[in-house]
Amino acid sequence: VPEAVVVLIGSFLLGSIPFGYLMARMRFQTDIRQHGSQNIGATNVARTFGIRVGLVVLVLDALKGILAVMMAFVLFPHSSLLPAASGLMAMLGHVFSPFMKFKGGKGIATGLGVLSTLFWPAALIAVLCFALVVVLSRIVSVASFVAMLAALVSFWAFGQQTDFWFFGVPAVILAFWAHRNNWRRLLKGQEPRFGR
Ligand code: G3P
Repeated sequence: VPEAVVVLIGSFLLGSIPFGYLMARMRFQTDIRQHGSQNIGATNVARTFGIRVGLVVLVLDALKGILAVMMAFVLFPHSSLLPAASGLMAMLGHVFSPFMKFKGGKGIATGLGVLSTLFWPAALIAVLCFALVVVLSRIVSVASFVAMLAALVSFWAFGQQTDFWFFGVPAVILAFWAHRNNWRRLLKGQEPRFGR
């Protein structure tokens, strides 16, 4: 059990690394929280510095989720609960990063990394739904949330390990909460559309 605690704390700390913030600081000498949606995620980095830099942050943030789940799978090969919980910890680390005074990002890229390692078909479905909603609406926040929901539905549809729900359900709730400013803007008709 103590090893499990180390894995969970390690996953949280890994998730806390604010790659979007670091990228803006180190490469562009600016604080990403003063640009666009003020979020430290890949979307806002892409909005501010271009799609390529955004993609780099997307990959780095996703890697946090991938590594957290892999670490748990390797150290606890017979558990599906611990990988799910580690993934959740990585996402929580991103959203409540101690390095950002507990005001981190929205956890979607990290969540996608978690999904890809926990159960890749769910990640694939999430990405497809994301792409579809982005193409139709050009609103990334809505696409992100729909993607997380779709992953949860696919856990159920594919009859996956009930342990995966320990990631899926809190992840959807967390994603909804983390996007609260986006929902407010959306209701006021002020949520920016990508590529315009
Ligand atoms: O993953 C974050 C995305 O869903 C929304 O980002 O910058 O538009 O708030 P942003």
